[in-house]
Amino acid sequence: MDLPPSYQSILKNHFFSFSLLIKKKLKHAFSIFALLVSSAVVFVLITSFQPQSLFRLGDLSKILPSNQESCDYSYGRWVQDESYPLRSYNENCPFLDPGFRCRQNGRKDYDYLKWRWQPHGCDLPRFNARDLLERSRNGRIVFAGDSIGRNQWESLICMLAQSVSNQSDIYEENGKPITKHRGFLSMRFHEYNLTVEYYRVPFLVIFGRPPQNSPHQVRTTIKVDLLHWFSDKWVGADVLIFNAGHWGVYFEEGGKVNMTMDVLEAFQKSLQTLRSWIIKNLDAERSHTFFRSYSPVHYRQVFHVYHQPEHNSLNGTWNQGGTCDKQREPETNYTRLEADPINNQLISHVFNQMRYENRKVQFLNITYLTEFRNDGHPSLHREPGTPVDAPQDCSHWCLPGVPDTWNDLLYAYLLSMEFRTK
Ligand SMILES: *[C@@H]1O[C@H](CO)[C@@H](O)[C@H](O)[C@H]1NC(C)=O
Ligand SMILES: *[C@@H]1O[C@H](CO)[C@@H](O)[C@H](O)[C@H]1NC(C)=O
Ligand SMILES: *[C@@H]1O[C@H](CO)[C@@H](O)[C@H](O)[C@H]1NC(C)=O
Ligand SMILES: *[C@@H]1O[C@H](CO)[C@@H](O)[C@H](O)[C@H]1NC(C)=O
Ligand SMILES: *[C@@H]1O[C@H](CO)[C@@H](O)[C@H](O)[C@H]1NC(C)=O
Ligand SMILES: *[C@@H]1O[C@H](CO)[C@@H](O)[C@H](O)[C@H]1NC(C)=O
Repeated sequence: MDLPPSYQSILKNHFFSFSLLIKKKLKHAFSIFALLVSSAVVFVLITSFQPQSLFRLGDLSKILPSNQESCDYSYGRWVQDESYPLRSYNENCPFLDPGFRCRQNGRKDYDYLKWRWQPHGCDLPRFNARDLLERSRNGRIVFAGDSIGRNQWESLICMLAQSVSNQSDIYEENGKPITKHRGFLSMRFHEYNLTVEYYRVPFLVIFGRPPQNSPHQVRTTIKVDLLHWFSDKWVGADVLIFNAGHWGVYFEEGGKVNMTMDVLEAFQKSLQTLRSWIIKNLDAERSHTFFRSYSPVHYRQVFHVYHQPEHNSLNGTWNQGGTCDKQREPETNYTRLEADPINNQLISHVFNQMRYENRKVQFLNITYLTEFRNDGHPSLHREPGTPVDAPQDCSHWCLPGVPDTWNDLLYAYLLSMEFRTK
């Protein structure tokens, strides 16, 4: 994972306050906590993981705006498609983190690449790198979020890079290395005068030290009313894709720690902070703004432990399991899928609200389709140098892989919005 060492110690504190919080009986949010906590465990424990063609004629009718309202890309099924890997990039794409290159890290099968998402009642338009590059000329595509957002960012860069013959024509603007970076990265597609940028802002709002005179157990807080200072850099972007990962800890509002605010309320406030920022700072005509929904993790055995309150000290669970390396194909047993997290409803509500304010916004709902793909995680096949006894990575995604489909949806929505930079 792309966490600098200082963050790791912060997250450890974060993690401990988190377990305190759980003891305080936030029962109604408990299942979300289970998801969150397991993600937090990943943050803490995986210390060394750093993390073309024309449309098919048949698809043309599906990309016309008039047909969009009736098409819900979020609902459908995975179908086996042997041709899918052939039209994708491969692990040699130079912009991939070593931690996402599962085959290079020892994964033997290609099975996870041979699935295509088939929405019910319509088709996804086929991703056309050249078309998206042309539409984005002189523009900026910005990803802001956690390391799963980075996963998607790398996927999009490699998808676009397929139609650029000279790979040296794509480079990080400030010469920063792709891995072990801090803060943000901006990949320039020179020929198109386009940048595809990534900002590391796991909570979107500011996460940091509490104010003076706060209760002593509070080491860090999430400041729900202050958007991350990187937001200055997002102004003027043509496409923005937000996501927010792992919520918890103590919350701060108006410069004071609020010990009674719960996680969903805090998340909702942060979304409103983002919304106000969007309305105030983004150009309604120019900016196309997305919020990607929750990306499920697949530490099934851990969930069972978490659902037993007496085990909420979180001690030992990692040694007892939390694996996803045995999965070779998507889940087919629907009863094993988790319910849509409440966070998604909050996001979709806030984003739909902005439509009435004439904003080009879209909730990118990938949770359901992703929930099936327990076969797509790096699991044991983490970055070279990771200790063999380190926990499995069942939250990030192998690339090429599942985030490519998220970008297929992104592309489909951009077409339906008739996106093109001026
Ligand atoms: C996301 O999509 C799934 C599948 O269509 C659906 O069940 C769920 O309600 C959607 N979530 C939201 C918040 O719209
Ligand atoms: C590149 O794009 C920027 C806007 O992002 C624009 O200001 C600039 O003029 C463009 N450069 C060229 C050479 O077209
Ligand atoms: C590839 O791109 C780089 C950077 O823009 C340029 O210096 C180089 O001459 C290009 N190579 C070819 C073969 O066009
Ligand atoms: C803390 O948050 C709760 C829930 O939003 C609110 O009812 C309460 O007034 C807040 N407390 C302070 C001191 O602001
Ligand atoms: C924590 O780990 C210790 C040592 O393995 C074990 O004895 C204890 O029961 C565990 N506690 C919980 C709550 O799982
Ligand atoms: C589906 O999963 C549930 C819960 O794990 C299990 O009880 C059931 O037997 C499974 N069904 C099939 C057909 O495997």
